[in-house]
Formats: sequence, C-alpha cells, structure tokens
Amino acid sequence: MASFYTNFIFPLILLLTIFPYNSCAIESSELLINDLFESAKQPEFFNWLKSLRRKIHEYPELAFQEYKTSELIRNELDLLGIEYVWPVAKTGLVGTVGSGQEPWFGLRADMDALPMQEMVDSEYKSKNDGKMHACGHDAHVTMLLGAARLLQNRKDKLKGTVKLVFQPAEEGYAGASYMIEEGALDGVKAIFGMHVWPFIPTGIIGSKPGPIMAGAGRFTAIMHGKGGHAAIPHKAKDPILAVSMTVLALQQLVSRETDPLESRVLSVAFVDGGEAGNVIPESVKFGGTFRFLTSGSYSYLKQRIKEIIETEASVHQCTATVDFGEDLMRPYPPTLNDPTMYEHAKRVGAVLLGEENVTHGDITMGAEDFSFYSQKMSAAFFTIGAQNKTAAATGGVKGLHSPYFTLDEDVLPIGAALHAAVAMSYFDSLGQT
Ligand SMILES: *[C@@H]1O[C@H](CO)[C@@H](O)[C@H](O)[C@H]1NC(C)=O
Ligand SMILES: *[C@@H]1O[C@H](CO)[C@@H](O)[C@H](O)[C@H]1NC(C)=O
Repeated sequence: MASFYTNFIFPLILLLTIFPYNSCAIESSELLINDLFESAKQPEFFNWLKSLRRKIHEYPELAFQEYKTSELIRNELDLLGIEYVWPVAKTGLVGTVGSGQEPWFGLRADMDALPMQEMVDSEYKSKNDGKMHACGHDAHVTMLLGAARLLQNRKDKLKGTVKLVFQPAEEGYAGASYMIEEGALDGVKAIFGMHVWPFIPTGIIGSKPGPIMAGAGRFTAIMHGKGGHAAIPHKAKDPILAVSMTVLALQQLVSRETDPLESRVLSVAFVDGGEAGNVIPESVKFGGTFRFLTSGSYSYLKQRIKEIIETEASVHQCTATVDFGEDLMRPYPPTLNDPTMYEHAKRVGAVLLGEENVTHGDITMGAEDFSFYSQKMSAAFFTIGAQNKTAAATGGVKGLHSPYFTLDEDVLPIGAALHAAVAMSYFDSLGQT
C-alpha cells in the first residue's frame, strides 16, 4: 500500500498540483462564473429572489430598527444551513460559508430603508407608513441571500471563507462603522459591495479604481443675535443678515481654499429663522453638508466651517454655536476602491456580463458607509444597472431616494451571481502565481 502511494499516487498529485493547474485556473474560473450565473437564472431561483425582495420591500425599516428584515435573513440562512453571528450593531449579522479557513472574504449588503412615503402602486407597496425602500437596499439584501445560497451549494469548492455581512443603518447612521467596531469583520482580508443603479440598464455594471464616492460631514449652527422691531434695526443685532453673510463666506472654502483639481462640496441646505415681516428674530438656525474625496479633508473643513461661522457672527455682533452631530451621525470617509480588488471584480464582471458591459463608473459626491470597510481592508464597490426598461422607454427613470423609485428585478440574479463569483474566484486567484 505504501509503495503504491509513493510510487504512483504521490507523484501524480505532485504533477497535477505543479503542472496543469495554473494554466487552467482562468478557464476553470470562467466555467465556475458561468455556472453560478446559470444557477441564479433558473426560474425557481429567480422566483425565490423576487419573493424575498418583495417581502422586504413591503416592510421597510429605518436605520437600527431592521428587526423584521434581520429576522427574515436569519430564517433564510437557517433554511440554507448557514451559521451566523447575531446581533452585531443591534440588528446586523454576519454569516459564514466555506472552509472556515483563511483567507476570509466579505460580501456586504445594507438593510435599512428611508423615512419617506412610497408613491409607487404595486401589490408589494410599503405597508409601513412613511417608510420606503427607495434606495434599493431590499435588492441588496436579496442579492446577498442569493449569493449565500449559490455559495452554500458549492461550499466544498470554496478555498477560503466567505463572510456574509448584513449591516444596518447605511442611510446616514454609519452602520458599517459599528459592524467594524464590534469586531464582526476582524480577519476579513477583502470585501466587495454593490449598489443598484437606476441610471444604467440592467446587465451593465460600473466602477473605477481610487475614490468612487465622497466622504461626508454635516453641520448645524445657531446664530444668536438680538431681536427687535424691523423698522429699528440699530437697536437689534440682526442674525438674518449675519447668516446671509456667513452663507456667502462659507462658499469660499470650495472656491478659494480647495485645490481646483480636487473635488469638494459645501451646501448650506436649510436656513430657519424669523416669522414676521416686521420683526428681527432673536436667532436663526442653519446647516448643511460638506463632501470631499481625500482623507484629510474632513478635519480641515470642519475646523474652517467653525471658524468662519464664529468669526462672521462676531463681525455682526452676534454669537454662534456650531454642531457637527458626530455622536449621532458619524461622518463618512470617502469610498476608495483598492486598484487590485477593483481589477479582480472587473475581470469577474467581464466574464459574467461581457467585457463591453463593465463600464468605467463616474465618481459621485454622494456618500456611502461602505467607505468604512474600504479604510480597513482591500475593498471594491460597484454600481449595478437596475434600470426599469418600461420607465426608460418613456423617459421616466426615477432616481434613488425618489418616492417613485422602482427597480428592474432582473438585476437580482445578476447581483447574486456576481457576489458569489467575485468571492469564489478571489480565493482561486490567490492560488495562482
Ligand atoms: C452586454 O449586455 C447586453 C445586454 O444585456 C447583451 O445583449 C450583450 O450580449 C452583452 N455583451 C456581451 C459581450 O456579453
Ligand atoms: C417600471 O415602471 C413602470 C412605469 O413606469 C411600472 O408600471 C412598472 O411596474 C415598473 N417595473 C418594475 C419592475 O418595477
């Protein structure tokens, strides 16, 4: 027996490992990717995806309140026999598929909805008044559950471990940062995420290396003056005028203090003060958002916004308080695509959808808390086309966060397969030299 092993089996294994493996890796990974896509497109699988998405769509939940959504995910993972850690960051969870060995690769979906009333009529219209999945997170959860099933069916072929990251509170409340803080992603080497995109047709994905979405901060300020009769202004300290000058002064942060080749935004988005045409109010509240693509920008802009508001206040004999709201809503860093991870996901996307259907995505100054992962590990974030064909034909595409937002459910099997394929072939790619 021993000689049979040493003389025959052992050299054969050696030969197979060293010789034909590398040359076949690309081909076998193409077979794998196409096989994942075929499975995801099977009518039974597709119908399961649609029914999941519609259930989630019908009961949207806001940041850190995703209890039913989380329960639905756990039920599905239980049915699939996938273990998970729960709760993480209140309502979040992290499932585990694969060998249990390193490397660990993360796939991420966000679960929360928006505080707005749905205006789209469908049999699965939101039943939670004033809440709506207007940002497609229902599809994100569904696509990741789809990937979970595809991966679990091939768990013996996984040369590593996939962490299925279902996080709460992407919309403004930095759920991702709490997932990281609670250690749910410790040991994860790389991560992939997607956002459904209503502006590109289904079947097309897009991204780019480097910064892809902006970092974001917010501020709220109160300008305290002295109220009085509007016909006797010299007896008052007018906070309306002080705020007006402050709004103008703040604009210089972008036009005069930012490298013209860099991108930043500062928008004062609300001014709230005064009630009558003949009364100067005591105080005026105002605030807005600021966006940036480089990591040092947040602290710089924060300091300058505070200085400008306080200094303008004193010019007008007022006083001001400025609040950056960091305790409740953590500022988001920019989302940065690691060039290697980006290339990897792009290659997989090209096999799945055809080279011409992987496009160079635009940077947007919108923010996304996937950025917190991109600070900790190699990350790639892609937009995935989900344009409603009927709406596109009649020129009526509604954007994210619109009460009329709809998405093309044909995106679901594509996203499920892409998730699974990016993770599986990541492990295979590490096996190559
Ligand atoms: C690109 O996508 C379109 C639409 O889904 C499809 O018809 C076409 O075959 C794709 N291209 C390739 C090279 O696969
Ligand atoms: C696409 O939009 C049309 C109207 O513009 C709507 O009737 C239809 O239900 C939408 N399709 C999906 C899949 O949401």
